[in-house]
Amino acid sequence: MLTQWPAVDWFEAISENFMDSGGRPRWVLREVAERYPLVLHGVSLSIGSTDPLNADYLGRLKALAAEVKPVWVNDHLCWTGVMGLNAHDLLPLPLTEETLSHVAGRVRQVQDFLERPLILENPSTYLTFAQSALTEPEFLGYLADETGCGLLLDVNNVYVTCFNSDADPVAYLESFPWSSVVQIHLAGHQHCGTHIIDTHDRSVQPAVWELYRLAWARSGGASTLLEWDGNIPSFAEYHAELLRAKLYMDGNFDPEQMITTPSPQEESVSNPVDFLVPTVMEQTVLENV
Ligand SMILES: [Fe+2]
Repeated sequence: MLTQWPAVDWFEAISENFMDSGGRPRWVLREVAERYPLVLHGVSLSIGSTDPLNADYLGRLKALAAEVKPVWVNDHLCWTGVMGLNAHDLLPLPLTEETLSHVAGRVRQVQDFLERPLILENPSTYLTFAQSALTEPEFLGYLADETGCGLLLDVNNVYVTCFNSDADPVAYLESFPWSSVVQIHLAGHQHCGTHIIDTHDRSVQPAVWELYRLAWARSGGASTLLEWDGNIPSFAEYHAELLRAKLYMDGNFDPEQMITTPSPQEESVSNPVDFLVPTVMEQTVLENV
């Protein structure tokens, strides 16, 4: 029996962690879904692959969505495998007109099958293709216009991608198709000097918080989630980091105001799912998709 219900606005759960599981994990997710708005976050749709869409995967995703009724379903602009193999990594795409046409057709197929809009996230990348003729914001903007999909802007991914490709993250954000953004991600990364790895295993870096301040304002207040997938701290520490987002939303962040004293209830909670905070009216945002 679950007895701790922390004061957060909504949850995000990794779709694949629950698609194949029954029993207690699925029961816990249903319990969460009954009490909080829930978003399903996918990592294996492989929307950019040249393999046919995986009908079995989509069927299981649709069944899970029917059961827990997520506010929306998201995944990444990437490919995760080919010839039936899953690399278990979010691999980059050459951003060309040909790729755009290919991905747009698959997004339409997915949306038709799931009978709901798909939300796509900008991935962290570690290389660029010489063939790319479009910037990532341009590509995502065209994709949203052509398919009606929504966008998930991962601010940390913007920072990682721009550092690794020697690009300006502020210019990236300035050119982003904001009218299609329904969600924001925050996360920590590992700086290796010559490159950055998107590790999700530590607190959000100051430069990413500054980008978040800009992203929050430009998005008009998109729902924000903090990803933390490795070296997971206590719920209290996680929640304190999460609540920093609210300070940046107000535009007057002062490190001295950091919230570090969670309630006893929050202190005792062990967080089983990937999480978030807060903000906007999710249903209102969906209507804009
Ligand atoms: Fe993300």
